[in-house]
Amino acid sequence: MENGDITFHTRKWVRPEDLNANGTLFGGSLLRWIDEEAAIYAIIQLGNGMAVTKYMSEINFVSSAEQGDLIEMGLTATHFGRTSLTMRAEVRNMFTRQSILTIEKIVFVNLGEDGKPAPHGYTEITYSRDRVPRQHLERMPPRQG
Ligand SMILES: CC(C)(COP(=O)(O)OP(=O)(O)OC[C@H]1O[C@@H](n2cnc3c(N)ncnc32)[C@H](O)[C@@H]1OP(=O)(O)O)[C@@H](O)C(=O)NCCC(=O)NCCS
Repeated sequence: MENGDITFHTRKWVRPEDLNANGTLFGGSLLRWIDEEAAIYAIIQLGNGMAVTKYMSEINFVSSAEQGDLIEMGLTATHFGRTSLTMRAEVRNMFTRQSILTIEKIVFVNLGEDGKPAPHGYTEITYSRDRVPRQHLERMPPRQG
């Protein structure tokens, strides 16, 4: 599913443990889910399991979600830097498409084995699984034929 450039991947079912004292979705749960989603997106785009959250811009909690709602999270890369990747995030209701959260900028930094920022060498989004982190590459079966 697309919304402009955003591809919505992960879906969540809002459960009692995800609620705040008002009985609506707790912002902290949403941020944890988005940070994990951004990490997975960055790993796929940068082909490196060592990528960390560096920066998040203003978080706009556009509307609330309630227990039982089905929501979906989407990200798109907006800028490939030398060592960084900038993404935009949106969370929305799966059925009404009402926006629940937007974050204009989430920046992840690609780290080298020394834990310092390292150039990733990419300039464009990949839509396939062609940038495989080394630890996963080592576990993949050899190609046939
Ligand atoms: C990630 C970390 C190694 C970067 O160190 P640093 O000294 O800021 O590195 P640099 O100054 O070389 O910047 C690295 C990249 O981040 C970008 N960057 C740095 N500060 C930024 C900011 N405030 N906003 C946006 N981008 C920023 C730089 O522009 C650079 O990108 P580029 O190479 O594509 O141009 C270091 O800040 C760190 O370890 N932070 C903690 C990360 C972490 O643990 N996150 C998990 C959540 S707690």
